[in-house]
Amino acid sequence: MNKRLLSRRQFGARCAAYLSLPAVGGALAMQGSSQVLAAAGRASKMAPRTVRLPDGTTTSALGQGAWHLGQGRHPPAVEEEAIRLGISLGMTLIDTSGNYGDGRSEQFLGHALTGWRDRIFLVSKVEADEVSGDGIPRACEASLARLGTPYLDLYLLHSPVPSTQFPGVVANFEQLRAAGKIRAWGVSNFDVGQMEDLLRVPDGPRCVTNQVAYSLINRRIERDLLPWCRQHHMPVMAYSPLGGDHHLVVADRTLAQIGAEHKCSAAAVALAWVMRSGNIIAIPESGSPAHTRENAEAFSITLRPRDFQRLAEAFPGPSGAT
Ligand SMILES: NC(=O)c1ccc[n+]([C@@H]2O[C@H](COP(=O)([O-])OP(=O)(O)OC[C@H]3O[C@@H](n4cnc5c(N)ncnc54)[C@H](OP(=O)(O)O)[C@@H]3O)[C@@H](O)[C@H]2O)c1
Repeated sequence: MNKRLLSRRQFGARCAAYLSLPAVGGALAMQGSSQVLAAAGRASKMAPRTVRLPDGTTTSALGQGAWHLGQGRHPPAVEEEAIRLGISLGMTLIDTSGNYGDGRSEQFLGHALTGWRDRIFLVSKVEADEVSGDGIPRACEASLARLGTPYLDLYLLHSPVPSTQFPGVVANFEQLRAAGKIRAWGVSNFDVGQMEDLLRVPDGPRCVTNQVAYSLINRRIERDLLPWCRQHHMPVMAYSPLGGDHHLVVADRTLAQIGAEHKCSAAAVALAWVMRSGNIIAIPESGSPAHTRENAEAFSITLRPRDFQRLAEAFPGPSGAT
C-alpha cells in the first residue's frame, strides 16, 4: 500500500478497518501499514459461528431478537416460520424480555418454540424498576411461565440501576442460578464505569455478557466498552446490529456491492462485520422468513481485508477517519 496515493481520510479509514479486526488490534497500532495489511490478510476469515461465554458455555454468534414478535407486525404464522427457520439455519440464540409487548413477545415464543426448547439458547430480561424486594425472582417466574420453560439460559438486567443496588441484583441472580431457574446472568446497556463497579461486587465477575447497541452506524462501544470487554474476556451481545428500525443499514450501497460480490445480502455483510471477532454475538430481529434467510447467510461469508477497508470508509465510526 502506498500512503502517498491515499488521502488522509482514506488512509485513516483503511487503518481503522484493519485495527478493528481483533486479531490485528492494539499491538499493531504503532506498526507500519504494510505489516497491518499482512496481519489483516491473515485475519480474513469466515464470521465465527459460535461464541464462548466466560462460564464455558458455547452459543451461536448469530441469534434472533424478538422485541416486536407476537405483536402484529407480521402475521403470527409468518413470524413463527421466520423464527423456526432461523433456528434451523443455526441462529439458535433467542433474545426477548419480560417487557417486550408487555409479555407478548415471550408468550409468542412460548407458543412458537413448543418442542424446540432443547435446540435454543433462551435469553430474557428483568427491568431496572423491578429489582427491589422480591422483584427479580417474581419477574423471572413470570417470564418462565409465559415462555413455558423451567429455565432460562441467560437472564439480563435490561438497563443499569445505581451501583449501590448491584450487590442485591447479583445476589438475586445467583439465587436463581442456584435454583436452576437461570443458567447464567448478565447485564445490558452498561458502560465501562458500571462494568468496573459490577466486577467489584461479590460474584459480580460471574456476569457473562453485556448486551449493547452495536452496528456499522453505531460504533460508540469501540471507544472503550469493546476493548474493555475483550480485555476481560467477556463477549458483547450486539443489539440493533442492522441499525435498528430507524437507522437500518441494509439499503447502503457499499454493503449491497460487497454483498453482490459475495453473492449474499447487504444485511448478511453487515452482520458478518458485527460478528467478525468471535467475541460479539449479533441478535438481528426479523419476522420475515426471507429476511431471516438473508441474515443467516452471515455465517458463511468471508469478509476480505478490502471489504473491511470499504466498510470503514463508508461507515467511519469513532475509530475511523472522521
Ligand atoms: N437490550 C436492549 O436495550 C435492546 C434494545 C433494542 C433491541 N434489543 C434486542 O435486539 C434485537 C434486535 O434489535 P432491533 O430490532 O432494534 O434492530 P435490528 O435487528 O437491527 O433491526 C430490526 C429491523 O430490521 C428488519 N430486518 C431484519 N432483517 C432484515 C433484512 N435481511 N433485510 C431488511 N430488513 C431486515 C426487521 O424487519 P422485518 O421483521 O420485516 O424483517 C426490523 O424492522 C431486538 O429484537 C431485541 O431482542 C435489545
